[in-house]
Amino acid sequence: LDGHPDGQTSIRSLDEARRQAEGCRRCDLWANATRTVFGEGPPSVEGATAEGATAEWTAAEWTAGGPRLMLVGEQPGDREDRAGHPFVGPAGAVLNRALAEAGIDRARVYLTNAVKHFKNEPRGKRRLHRRPDAGEIDRCRWWLELERRFVRPQVIVALGASAARALTGHAVTISRVRGRVLTLDATGVAPAARLLVTTHPSYILRQRDDDARRRILEAMITDLVLAARQK
Ligand code: URA
Repeated sequence: LDGHPDGQTSIRSLDEARRQAEGCRRCDLWANATRTVFGEGPPSVEGATAEGATAEWTAAEWTAGGPRLMLVGEQPGDREDRAGHPFVGPAGAVLNRALAEAGIDRARVYLTNAVKHFKNEPRGKRRLHRRPDAGEIDRCRWWLELERRFVRPQVIVALGASAARALTGHAVTISRVRGRVLTLDATGVAPAARLLVTTHPSYILRQRDDDARRRILEAMITDLVLAARQK
């Protein structure tokens, strides 16, 4: 796994990580993507420099005085690739609804993806989205670890299997771990956190059946509420 196994990094702030990620060539996905889509969070996070910075962040800037919460998706889609922001397309609309129903203000969480480039395999003029493979997820862990380092989330929610792999370092079966509060160990540069694994919003979009869609959305909302209630 390609994080920061030696525990060393010369990158000193979230801002610097974001700037360096713009030119990332750690895997080949940059070639067919428009831009790197990095994570985003409350204003205080943007200035995060080192571990100590967190102490100055007011609880009010996070989930209703709850934990510092990080949500990790899979990768930017077509819309995110064009806009340069995570979760602004159809999956983002589902996520927004789930967050609203869970009483979580999206502006107060740090939202990012396991993979920072859109996996676009163009066919003619069409932009075809493909899921990132394990190698791409593992290479991009480099950035996710830096986000964890500077944001220092107390609770991380993995939206789907790619995020769960990026965070735990191994393949995860969502149905086996969903809804349980797990412990995520510290890595070379990232501190430990609690981890909740839940469904990816796109999975809800793919359901044909209204009942199934509602049931899976409800389970996701329950997971988000549990995450936001952690201290
Ligand atoms: N799906 C994701 O996993 N992330 C996004 O940012 C958009 C869609």
